[in-house]
Amino acid sequence: MSDGRRTRARRPAAADPGVLTDTLRRPLHDLRISVTDRCNFRCTYCMPKEVFGRGFEFLARSEILTFEETTRLARIFVANGVRKLRITGGEPLVRKDVEQLIAMLAGIEGLEDLTVTTNGSLLKRKARALKQAGLKRITVSLDSLDNGVFKSMNDVDFPVERVLEGIEAAEQAGLSPVKVNMVVKRGINDHTVLQMARYFRERGQILRFIEFMDVGNANGWRLDDVVPAGEIIARINAEMPLEPAYPNYRGEVARRYRYKDGSGEIGVIASVTQPFCGDCTRARLSADGRLYTCLFATKGHDLRAILRGGRTDAQIAESLRSLWGRRDDRYSELRSSATPDLPKVEMSRIGG
Ligand SMILES: C[S@@+](CC[C@H](N)C(=O)[O-])C[C@H]1O[C@@H](n2cnc3c(N)ncnc32)[C@H](O)[C@@H]1O
Ligand code: SF4
Repeated sequence: MSDGRRTRARRPAAADPGVLTDTLRRPLHDLRISVTDRCNFRCTYCMPKEVFGRGFEFLARSEILTFEETTRLARIFVANGVRKLRITGGEPLVRKDVEQLIAMLAGIEGLEDLTVTTNGSLLKRKARALKQAGLKRITVSLDSLDNGVFKSMNDVDFPVERVLEGIEAAEQAGLSPVKVNMVVKRGINDHTVLQMARYFRERGQILRFIEFMDVGNANGWRLDDVVPAGEIIARINAEMPLEPAYPNYRGEVARRYRYKDGSGEIGVIASVTQPFCGDCTRARLSADGRLYTCLFATKGHDLRAILRGGRTDAQIAESLRSLWGRRDDRYSELRSSATPDLPKVEMSRIGG
């Protein structure tokens, strides 16, 4: 089975004059906003208890951007090319009244897509309010349908059923299509890949498999723990034949595959084995207002200081244009045996 993407030119297109691009001619198109560094799960690959235990110091309230500050920054990003916002965390639904922020962001002129990534634990309670606030769709993370496996991964004894109830509530509220993210770790949950594929195919929900990544420095990442996306696709293809599908747009993170019988699609996010830096159009804003131009960045740029320093929107936009204009990150393409140990921002700070 060939890969549909390979048949397409992967080199960046010549930039339109006026479009903000970086040194590799990648436009700024997506912004991921982390609204909290806290989470009610302790996924072993993201916030292991040994690091994020009782003594861990999370951000103080005063350090976190207010909804007004976040919206102001988001508006400036949209005025400079961003078309898609993803709200994330930590766990975004633990941020008090997060639906109010969604309503404020949904009103930004020029924004084309607004979505949330959540662990689903509070979704049953929040789905309708999120929809009413203007959210269009949602991504829910779920690493297995096997309770023992899932609980060992979220490490807070959270049962599968309650995440499934959240997904159901999201569907009923009209937050569709619901996408489901599964991080695959060898020897931990990879034996449940087929069960997940079957389950979500039957329901017409899009399942995306994420290669376990060396984000941050807390998760003890080893290359041996990564199940390559190619292997996942081969396993599913053997039972439920697949064919590659073209990306929906430039910079789409997931490689898409359709079931040949027309029963839906899946995606793989192969940041380790098939890096997609050449098409990366994403910026990430942490809850304390730092801008990261790469998921694997070692440091962020302090936009909160600029914001709280009394600058005008035009001055903040100028800082953003200058930061993006200098961007040359391509960590995944440069990944080597030495890079996992570099100091990197934790996933729970910038939300994936
Ligand atoms: C950091 S979480 C934040 C949003 C929310 N708490 C959730 O879990 O969906 C965003 C996504 O990153 C994924 N993720 C976290 N750590 C990862 C890692 N080391 N490798 C690959 N994906 C990871 C999670 O599974 C989730 O789908
Ligand atoms: S992946 Fe999401 S749910 Fe799991 S610990 Fe990280 S932020 Fe929390």
